[in-house]
Amino acid sequence: MMRTHLCGELRQLDIGSTASVTGWVNKRREHGEHLAFVDVRDYSGVIQCVVDNTVDVRSEYVVKITGTVTQRPEGTTNDALDTGQVEITDAEVEILSSAEPPPFPLDERANDVDEQVRLKYRYLDLRREQMQKNLRTRAKVNSAVRTSMESQGFIEVETPMLMPTTPEGAREFIVPSRRRPGSFFALPQSPQLFKQLLMVGGFDRYYQIARCLRDEDLRVDRQYEFMQLDLEMSFAEVDDVLGAVTESILSVTEAVTGTRPAEIPQITWHDAMNRFGTDKPDVRFEMELVELTDIFADTGFKAFGAAEAIKGLRAEGAAGDWGRNKLDGLTDFAKSHGAKGLVWIKVSDELTLESPVAKFFSDDEKAALIDRFEAKAGDLLLIVADDWLTTCEVLGEVRNKLGRPAVSNDRLEYLWVVDFPLFVGKDKSTGLPRPGHHPFCHPHPADVDKLETDPTSVRAWAYDLVLNGWELGSGSIRIHDPAMQRKVFSVLGIDDEEAQKRFGFFLTPFNYGAPPHGGFAYGIDRLVAILAGEENIREVIAFPKPQSGSDPMTGSPTEIDEAQLVELGLKVLPPLD
Ligand code: AMO
Ligand code: AMP
Repeated sequence: MMRTHLCGELRQLDIGSTASVTGWVNKRREHGEHLAFVDVRDYSGVIQCVVDNTVDVRSEYVVKITGTVTQRPEGTTNDALDTGQVEITDAEVEILSSAEPPPFPLDERANDVDEQVRLKYRYLDLRREQMQKNLRTRAKVNSAVRTSMESQGFIEVETPMLMPTTPEGAREFIVPSRRRPGSFFALPQSPQLFKQLLMVGGFDRYYQIARCLRDEDLRVDRQYEFMQLDLEMSFAEVDDVLGAVTESILSVTEAVTGTRPAEIPQITWHDAMNRFGTDKPDVRFEMELVELTDIFADTGFKAFGAAEAIKGLRAEGAAGDWGRNKLDGLTDFAKSHGAKGLVWIKVSDELTLESPVAKFFSDDEKAALIDRFEAKAGDLLLIVADDWLTTCEVLGEVRNKLGRPAVSNDRLEYLWVVDFPLFVGKDKSTGLPRPGHHPFCHPHPADVDKLETDPTSVRAWAYDLVLNGWELGSGSIRIHDPAMQRKVFSVLGIDDEEAQKRFGFFLTPFNYGAPPHGGFAYGIDRLVAILAGEENIREVIAFPKPQSGSDPMTGSPTEIDEAQLVELGLKVLPPLD
């Protein structure tokens, strides 16, 4: 046996016993003429060992240390450390591996080190307490996910990584076929199509902790490869799916934090946009959008005159913080999100409105603004006028910019957003509606008769789960009736022949008796990041790609040699003459 104890395990109870610990040298300090303190670290913690100072061990050497567990002398105990009452004395050191000095300190100071360097030496970065904690939180989440899904009768089924390209929405990674040069597999953006075929196949309740791949621009909440808890259930309505996901997410949260959050409130997509200006509201803070359209029904202010919607935000007591330059910057910010402009108003001590455009407002309009905003002296009021969606979206961005708290795990505000629109906007080239999620979402039955006449007003049986302003997951009830599918395709301008050509393999099965079904997927990386209090999902992934998409540790993506290109049919050699 190499060790008798883990480093972090030793306590006063162990005093007097002989212990062997193994791990990395965390720190070495000389102590008097003959002795040195060597702190040894493994994943469980750190223990101080008193060794002969002739022993040549340095930071990150791998050692086995055997000695007697002893009470630390008075005045040298360390309450910050679980093992701080004891130390190993008369310690004998066996060096298992020597080590070059690490390129950066393996403690919290690494947070200030360039991420490229941390990722280049990820195997060292992973030794840090924070990374150990984050990946252990992740493992706990995975385990709790499995427990909660299995307790609800879901069974885990794996689906292929090599598949045809599909119309799910994101850009795909493509794999060339050696045996059919010029043909390609796609890597799955999600198990979407296969999980629906599992429902046709009679599995009733499926789940998978699934790897998904999307060739997207990377951000703090996006990786090329990421993990989903993916699920699908047959003979299920919206409430059944929301119920199963709620049970899963609440019990996973409880497993990690020790506290089961309250039941998750629901809001419709329309209300979320109208009140918070986003389909993923962060409800940790209020600052709701204020409806002003009616106030300016007959306004003389040109910018507001023809607008479909006028809404505003009140930043309480913020007027003093916003000088002219900052307000110009905020106006540019609003414009960069599609606004034509941004009206700002400071409320004076006498409750008069101070703004370059105040002169264009009538007294009635001013009084109505004060009233509607419930404005107080020192408030900053911001107003946008545009079509309804732009007005909401711009103010949603401004609201987040002004009020959103940092990512944190001390408050977890889950929210269901339901009744997403079936279509969003129009395709620029064809003028036809575009699917809001994917083209297999079931229209809300109450809106089906508007599919042809007023498609953009049709709601879908589609829903998102939001946590602290992050989109955590999405799902929908799917179309299981081929006639309904044809109807939705026809709105999208896809005729039978094209549908068959593009996704025939997926559509034909529905002619053989498909159960009504629906499902969901939430992002494990995003969930773990928030539960770990991290702003960046890379902090909870063992080997992530940095923003650039190139891995500094392995050097991938790498070039491949000519023979491999030829073998894959990606390069044709000129004939030898
Ligand atoms: P969707 O595309 O919304 O739905 O993805 C579901 C969840 O996966 C996470 N996610 C990501 N996480 C990290 N990096 C990425 N690049 C990334 N992309 C998505 C998010 C997101 O909410 N098949 C459907 C689900 C369904 O309808 O059942 C789907 O994949 O947390
Ligand atoms: P303009 O009439 O374009 O000179 O704009 C006068 C002020 O109104 C400027 O502060 C603009 O930022 C603002 N503004 C113009 N259009 C809009 C709009 N659609 N919504 C909100 N503010 C606007």
